[in-house]
Amino acid sequence: MKQVVLRNYPRGAPSAGDFAVETAEMPEPSTGEVLLKTYWLSLDPLIRFSLDERRLTGRAQVRPGEVLYGGAVSRIEASNVAAFSVGDWVEGRTGWREFAAVDPAVVPLRKIDAGAAPPSAALGLLGMPGQTAHACMIEVGRVTTGETVVISAAAGAVGTIAGQIGKILGARVVGIAGGPEKCRAVEALGFDVCVDYRASDYADQLAAACPGGIDVYIENVGGAVTQAVLPLLKYQARMPVCGFIAYYGMGLEGPGPDRLPGFMRTIMSKGLEVRGFGGALVAGPDALDNLARWHGQGKIRLAETVVEGLDEAPAAFAGIFSGNANVGKLVVRVAAE
Ligand SMILES: NC(=O)c1ccc[n+]([C@@H]2O[C@H](COP(=O)([O-])OP(=O)(O)OC[C@H]3O[C@@H](n4cnc5c(N)ncnc54)[C@H](OP(=O)(O)O)[C@@H]3O)[C@@H](O)[C@H]2O)c1
Repeated sequence: MKQVVLRNYPRGAPSAGDFAVETAEMPEPSTGEVLLKTYWLSLDPLIRFSLDERRLTGRAQVRPGEVLYGGAVSRIEASNVAAFSVGDWVEGRTGWREFAAVDPAVVPLRKIDAGAAPPSAALGLLGMPGQTAHACMIEVGRVTTGETVVISAAAGAVGTIAGQIGKILGARVVGIAGGPEKCRAVEALGFDVCVDYRASDYADQLAAACPGGIDVYIENVGGAVTQAVLPLLKYQARMPVCGFIAYYGMGLEGPGPDRLPGFMRTIMSKGLEVRGFGGALVAGPDALDNLARWHGQGKIRLAETVVEGLDEAPAAFAGIFSGNANVGKLVVRVAAE
């Protein structure tokens, strides 16, 4: 079977050459284990945290030669665990490989209903990114009717869902994404407007899109994208810090001149409520039920970009950090359903 291992620790943004696709022995499930066949692999920015030589964020750490860490949707091929039967669809952090033998007591597996939605949705709308978007807008952002919400990385898995939740909540939703095509795709999902942060007049366009100021800013990016947001924040605006992808791979050092003083000044002078969180930890117990219901009612559309084959996973993962064309959740079809 095929699997993807880390070749060397990435320096800054990862590139496909940091990974190697290799052939491995088919795993045999031991007592207490199930054998899984991977159908869908999730490519997430958070995987970058597991690839640092010095671990700073999160619990997972992958060393050179080890299989990449990450979520996948699989089917049970053989089971030595009473709670799981052959044919069950499950989601779990089983790694970048075609088959895996795991003990569900060590690697938690969530059963999914493949009849209710496409199985890959368990990696996006009906999984961790969906819970994160729910947490951004409801538990942490506390978005209400009539408020203006700005969402960076709006074309991504979290952003596409968060924006659609914002419309359900009755907010004015402004997205920020890279390039006019992504912006049009984001608007097609129901955002009121999407601003291209690569445009030379990005800050002016953002100000024009938020004439009354910003009540809630969903921070996914950092850097220059955020600099244009800060002057537009209203007094006591909320800022859920969901991610800061522009700084991933930079350790604690950060780029160029230190902009922290201006950020701290804005937090104090505007009475901002800035809160970091893990989406899957903070989303309430009803988050996945809400998302499934809204999807069933046609209020949230599934947005997915599919990459074909495990061989393509390293380049597609690297693309997350270097400008890709994807809209919605990025998944790899490892095997045909
Ligand atoms: N706190 C949590 O529990 C949690 C959970 C999931 C995700 N997150 C975070 O949420 C954010 C979005 O995640 P996702 O799953 O939606 O990812 P995604 O679907 O892979 O989208 C990520 C997008 O970020 C944009 N981006 C990448 N580098 C950038 C840069 N230097 N400057 C500006 N934009 C950049 C790119 O879009 P453009 O082409 O538009 O630039 C990219 O497609 C990330 O920061 C991620 O780490 C947090």
